[in-house]
Amino acid sequence: MTRVLVLGSGYIAGHVGTRLARLGHGVVLGSRRRPATPETRGLRWLPTDVADRRHVRELVDAIRPDAVVAAHGPSDITWCEAEPDRTAAVHADGARHVVDALAGRAARCVLISTDNVFPGRADSCSESDPTEPANAYGRAKLAAERTFLAAPDALVLRVSLVYGWDRTGLRPNFFTTCAERLRVGEPVAVPDAHWNTPVLIDDVAAWTTALLDAPHTGVLHLGGPRRLSRLTWARHIAETYGVDPALVSAVPQGDTAYACRPRNACLHSERAAHLPELRGLEPLDVFEADTALITGRVTATTTTTTTGTPAATAIATGKDQS
Ligand SMILES: NC(=O)c1ccc[n+]([C@@H]2O[C@H](COP(=O)([O-])OP(=O)(O)OC[C@H]3O[C@@H](n4cnc5c(N)ncnc54)[C@H](OP(=O)(O)O)[C@@H]3O)[C@@H](O)[C@H]2O)c1
Repeated sequence: MTRVLVLGSGYIAGHVGTRLARLGHGVVLGSRRRPATPETRGLRWLPTDVADRRHVRELVDAIRPDAVVAAHGPSDITWCEAEPDRTAAVHADGARHVVDALAGRAARCVLISTDNVFPGRADSCSESDPTEPANAYGRAKLAAERTFLAAPDALVLRVSLVYGWDRTGLRPNFFTTCAERLRVGEPVAVPDAHWNTPVLIDDVAAWTTALLDAPHTGVLHLGGPRRLSRLTWARHIAETYGVDPALVSAVPQGDTAYACRPRNACLHSERAAHLPELRGLEPLDVFEADTALITGRVTATTTTTTTGTPAATAIATGKDQS
């Protein structure tokens, strides 16, 4: 059994932690507040502030992890733009705290990073494309990447917009937010030309756990196989529910809190096809996933939804993740 410290206890950390635990690893989640999501139930958790150097060192000394997955926030890009110093304190300084605390321990590290390290001018970016962060969040994550990459056994996994059902409703992702409104015939307004290669949370968890056991270092991209605009995606969700796609309207991205996002937030990989650990783990197409998520969970969502009105605000103001 491997002892794995997962930093963060949010959407990605919870799913990664659950998958690792199912595979027999000893998992500890670390975040500032005790998580209460279904994914984190049953997982060990310890209070952690990654921005606090001493705190991180004490945690690492106590757990003596064989591996670390850094999947902590802040992940709200709009908040990060308003709070660049606090963002850097957690992502950039936090990375230094983690790497320093692990020095001499031979621990494997995987950092979950982002497409926001790119400016968004190209339709999609691969691992060899030059970085040029689009915003404060991207700058802080790029600094964290560089710190981890200087460690002896670290992989930076840049993932595109992550989606799937999020039952907690704390900060539901774009899919959940759209689906919950459209399901009951409520309109949604989305940015007109914001492009993504969305990736299902299950695929993020599967890749992260597979790569934790692998020898690969450097940067790797995980994007879904379909590049699409949020407008097209939301309309597809409407069609899958059998409601009028005209319920989805377009708002100029620059008029919304999505303004600080790169126009293209899309990733593809030049490396992944060559990594044997990823064989059979090809990410699911977002249209196929929409159908699977909606037809598989339509009854459950009626008892686990957020209310309609806050979700509408979320779409218009970019409060959903990424
Ligand atoms: N979701 C996406 O679409 C996406 C895409 C690309 C990359 N990522 C990256 O993946 C990471 C996780 O994203 P997510 O979607 O899972 O975010 P999330 O659901 O918002 O979870 C973030 C987690 O980080 C914890 N956290 C925040 N500040 C912390 C601190 N100072 N010390 C320790 N823990 C802290 C939060 O708990 P507390 O507030 O209680 O501490 C929470 O558990 C982010 O770094 C983001 O860059 C996400």
